[in-house]
Amino acid sequence: MNAIEVEGLVKTFPGEVEAVAGIDLAVSGDEIFGFLGPNGAGKTTTIRILTTLLRSTRGKARVNGLDVEQRAAEVRQIVGVALQEAGMDALSTGREMLVLQARLHGMSGSEPQRRAAGLLEKVGLSDAGDRRVGTYSGGMKRRLDLAHALVHGPQVLFLDEPTTGLDPASRQSIWDEVRRLNRDEGIAVFLTTQYMEEADQLCDRLAIIDHGRIVAMGTPDELKASIGADVVTVAIRPEEAQAARTALEGLDGLIDLRMDGAGLTLFVNDGSETVADVIRLLDEATVGVGAVSVSRPTLDEVFLRATGSRLEGAGDTSAARGEAAS
Ligand SMILES: Nc1ncnc2c1ncn2[C@@H]1O[C@H](COP(=O)(O)OP(=O)(O)O)[C@@H](O)[C@H]1O
Ligand SMILES: [Mg+2]
Repeated sequence: MNAIEVEGLVKTFPGEVEAVAGIDLAVSGDEIFGFLGPNGAGKTTTIRILTTLLRSTRGKARVNGLDVEQRAAEVRQIVGVALQEAGMDALSTGREMLVLQARLHGMSGSEPQRRAAGLLEKVGLSDAGDRRVGTYSGGMKRRLDLAHALVHGPQVLFLDEPTTGLDPASRQSIWDEVRRLNRDEGIAVFLTTQYMEEADQLCDRLAIIDHGRIVAMGTPDELKASIGADVVTVAIRPEEAQAARTALEGLDGLIDLRMDGAGLTLFVNDGSETVADVIRLLDEATVGVGAVSVSRPTLDEVFLRATGSRLEGAGDTSAARGEAAS
């Protein structure tokens, strides 16, 4: 059985805002599935519909086979959700919030305390459990959000931009926990993100969403392969750019060539086959060649190809990997 099935899902807000414009997808019970898209793409709206917080305008959505509108109460039992703007009571402690949530889910006696302690441990907040939430860092708040979503032992977990605004180390610790939940506890995960790197590293499969529509879907590797090109970068001196361009004009398998401060970026059919020719041609033209790399395209290029524009914030993740901006 699929964890999530969506057919022809549409959500139109008053004023003709088509937030979700006809989405189809299926997520299996063992997947981490991601929605990658910019602000306003319809990510949160989709999560709110799938977790029964919002009614759709049209279409079908099921979680573990249960229709989210006809069987909303049952769906709420099996989904956990951490929303982007979860309201947290700054004056409560993390432990108090989890205990309260456990009681709201019908646990009684000593169980809420036990449950809270177990979850604090799981998300690495045992030491901070008795501190007020107002004193938590961004990363700690996100980990508490995660614990909060897990109180009732959900089978399908929805995370809306779980690491937006976090530093790399905090982001990594959330990724580790999400992977662990998926792998060791068999929880299906549907998450949204604006980060290429998060989609790439964390998700088994992802959909690229823009203006309420899925414009590409697959594993990160499939999506990158769909570009049909490898990327070769060559560091050269800026004053030799024109000579390099001329030298590479007749290169076999060249799809596109870009130049920036760091050097040349070539899109080619087969990187490993072409790289020797690139170096030979530059050498023959007496262009000094520095560092050379061959790589598959990133999701950055996939997004650009699918939507015609770059994803907001794409610059920071590609810069972190030392790639040339183009
Ligand atoms: N309650 C609402 N009323 C009207 N428009 C909304 C509402 N919620 C979201 N929208 C609009 O729907 C679109 C998609 O929003 P959202 O799902 O929040 O996108 P994302 O989470 O990808 O940033 C945006 O244009 C947003 O302004
Ligand atoms: Mg959102």
